[in-house]
Amino acid sequence: MTCTSIRALTLLLVLPLSGWFVVSSMTPASVQDPKPAPEAKGEPREGQRPEGRRQGRGPGGGPSLHGAMEQMGNEMKRVSESIADPAKNEATLQGLGRMLMAAGASQNGEPKNLAEIPADKQAAHKLAFRRALVVLARDIADIELLVLDGKNAAAAEMLESKVVAGRDSSHEKFGGDEDKEH
Ligand code: HEM
Repeated sequence: MTCTSIRALTLLLVLPLSGWFVVSSMTPASVQDPKPAPEAKGEPREGQRPEGRRQGRGPGGGPSLHGAMEQMGNEMKRVSESIADPAKNEATLQGLGRMLMAAGASQNGEPKNLAEIPADKQAAHKLAFRRALVVLARDIADIELLVLDGKNAAAAEMLESKVVAGRDSSHEKFGGDEDKEH
């Protein structure tokens, strides 16, 4: 091989390498790695629950009783404002559906006043708590049926006579926070 061809061969090998070195040393880290490790951004790793969603969870992993009740209160406020108006049936049905889900999620909890109940009566108190939530769910479902059947006045009446009354008596019995009710 001649001296010129050896030099040309060396240049051929070295040039691309040095080009890569210059480009990579000038490129910012964010461009080189567009997806930083999740933990670097304060995000959970894959399979890990986001911090915010872990808060207010009940023992079974569902929403806490407190969170479910807050949601139930907010939904009921909106439903009471729309239930009598047939033109608002879609919004009413959506709200009632969310109330039903919150009533189901509340079953993850237990009476707030459980510790104040004598030990031998606690099991029955827990059953009564669950039962009241099932009755609530049944009443909400019946109200949904009335709205679907176009019986808005009857639905509004049942919301007041069954759900609101049931809420108040249940809170008295199981320790709902009266001051924060909606
Ligand atoms: C539609 C009916 C109901 C509504 C709108 C409702 C609403 C609420 C609201 C707004 C709170 C206060 C949450 C807060 O502290 O910010 C609460 C708490 C509570 N409710 Fe209800 N509730 C209803 C039915 C029931 C029923 C049927 C039971 C029992 C079977 C019940 C048991 C409780 C308990 C034990 C708490 C205290 C939870 C805690 O703060 O740890 N509620 N409810």
